[in-house]
Amino acid sequence: MSIIHKNKSDEYYTPKSAWEDIIPYLPKDKIYYEPFNNASNPQSLKSKEFLIELGLTMLDKDPYDPETDDNNFFSDTGEGWDICITNPPFSIKQKVVKRLKDIDRAFILILPTATINTGYFKDLFRDGLQIIIPKKRINFNYYLDNKKSCCFDCIYMCYNMNLEKDLILL
Ligand SMILES: C[S@@+](CC[C@H](N)C(=O)[O-])C[C@H]1O[C@@H](n2cnc3c(N)ncnc32)[C@H](O)[C@@H]1O
Repeated sequence: MSIIHKNKSDEYYTPKSAWEDIIPYLPKDKIYYEPFNNASNPQSLKSKEFLIELGLTMLDKDPYDPETDDNNFFSDTGEGWDICITNPPFSIKQKVVKRLKDIDRAFILILPTATINTGYFKDLFRDGLQIIIPKKRINFNYYLDNKKSCCFDCIYMCYNMNLEKDLILL
């Protein structure tokens, strides 16, 4: 099976612990969509499996197929799910958040902390944004033999999630 590394910043995979830490804050009566998984990369499929194991109801949809472009996130119309939960490809994060805003969906996205300083992010999410700060830096290299630590911080950007607090420090 081939592992596609088109852009290095797009291939960071979420450890189960990073989802487990925020589970207590997530409503259980919603349908969640994890769009960023790649049919040709088994590691990329794990995030959705972890979320199912942690008890969330996930949209039953095949993963993205880069060969045929089937199930591309950008062609999803937002039907059948309430909340997008994912770690998106960082190289296209602006396009991803713009799309979620356009289709008017709540989300929890793992994004580099610096994203909040960008003009586009502030313009799009001045209202409705809440933030969860992880306990410790998320290590996306968890599955590698050489678990070299990650060199940047990420936070959970939450939009229209109606969490009890706007800032949650884990
Ligand atoms: C940062 S990785 C995260 C994978 C997984 N969501 C996780 O949290 O471990 C992003 C994945 O999205 C895939 N991807 C890239 N463009 C996509 C698109 N338009 N639709 C769906 N998936 C895409 C990439 O190949 C990559 O495997």
